[in-house]
Amino acid sequence: MKNVLILGGTGFVGSHVCEKLVRAGWTVTVATRRRSNARNVMHLPSLTIQELDVHDEAALGRIAHGQDAVVNLVAILHGTQAAFDKVHVELPQKIANVCSRAEVGRLVHVSALGATTQNPGSLPSMYLRSKSMGEVVLLAGCSQLALTVLRPSVIFGQGDQFLNVFASLQKLFPFMPLAGAGARFQPVWVEDVATAVVKALERGGSGVQTLEACGPEVFTLKQLVELSANLAGINRGHGRPVFAIPRWAGDLQARMMELMPGAPLMSRDNLASMEVPNVATPGKPGLSALGIQAAALRPIAADYLTQGASWHALLGVRRGGQRKT
Ligand SMILES: NC(=O)c1ccc[n+]([C@@H]2O[C@H](COP(=O)([O-])OP(=O)(O)OC[C@H]3O[C@@H](n4cnc5c(N)ncnc54)[C@H](OP(=O)(O)O)[C@@H]3O)[C@@H](O)[C@H]2O)c1
Repeated sequence: MKNVLILGGTGFVGSHVCEKLVRAGWTVTVATRRRSNARNVMHLPSLTIQELDVHDEAALGRIAHGQDAVVNLVAILHGTQAAFDKVHVELPQKIANVCSRAEVGRLVHVSALGATTQNPGSLPSMYLRSKSMGEVVLLAGCSQLALTVLRPSVIFGQGDQFLNVFASLQKLFPFMPLAGAGARFQPVWVEDVATAVVKALERGGSGVQTLEACGPEVFTLKQLVELSANLAGINRGHGRPVFAIPRWAGDLQARMMELMPGAPLMSRDNLASMEVPNVATPGKPGLSALGIQAAALRPIAADYLTQGASWHALLGVRRGGQRKT
């Protein structure tokens, strides 16, 4: 029986990871800022919830003691430069420090497709730059342990705040003015990402492994918005008219959303991230390196979107962008 500490284990991906790890026989500790955030995993056997400030390095060190492995899934989608740096750069640095001190053997870090350790400063968004810098500090600080960095494209699955949100918006509104309509994505199923985390923890060997996690198909954002409505049966499956708006109008739309209370549906930084194609890089290893054949989107999304899009998906985003299954 092996011990693993999960940071961000209460989130959309984290809850799937926890379930798979428990099933695979791991003893799991989930660190959370608030115990009540862990409602979706606290029922799992051989899983302990620890409420703590994960940014407190001393507390993190205490909880990392005796762990064989750590998984980091903590991230934010919106915020100031300082917030992105704290969560995506300083936290990975602290994780690297405590893993070395506690002699943790393995670390799996979930980053994002589009991140790069080569010239991160050239990237167009705070999100991508900070995700990239997080990888840079881990590469420098984790020479003593086996490190896997996973870079997923946008993740779909039951309870996602991606296809569910597009479908819900079309249920509410008669048309969709869409910024970044031509941006390309290669969506990956949450179960495949969670399986990748487990397989990365169980792989033999040492050193650094960076893998892109993408599904088998590339879609534009407009295609995904239209598909979500088709699958959810909005307007008898025809969806709503989706029309592309220019970048300046998208920035204006995003600025207005940022001014509303709660996490914005779309921020200017999100729009900037979409300037980088969110698709697999030719020649870079992907999920198949872990023996995973990525699932196609349509049949899975059809299954959960037909259960009915509702305004609750939007409420989840406005509450703070936290994705829950
Ligand atoms: N979902 C996607 O489409 C997608 C795409 C590409 C990459 N990723 C990456 O995949 C990983 C998991 O994503 P996810 O969708 O599962 O995220 P999520 O549902 O938003 O969960 C993130 C977790 O991070 C913790 N957290 C959030 N803000 C924090 C803060 N300021 N300080 C400390 N902890 C904080 C939360 O845990 P507590 O509330 O319990 O403390 C939360 O459960 C992230 O690294 C993300 O960047 C996701």
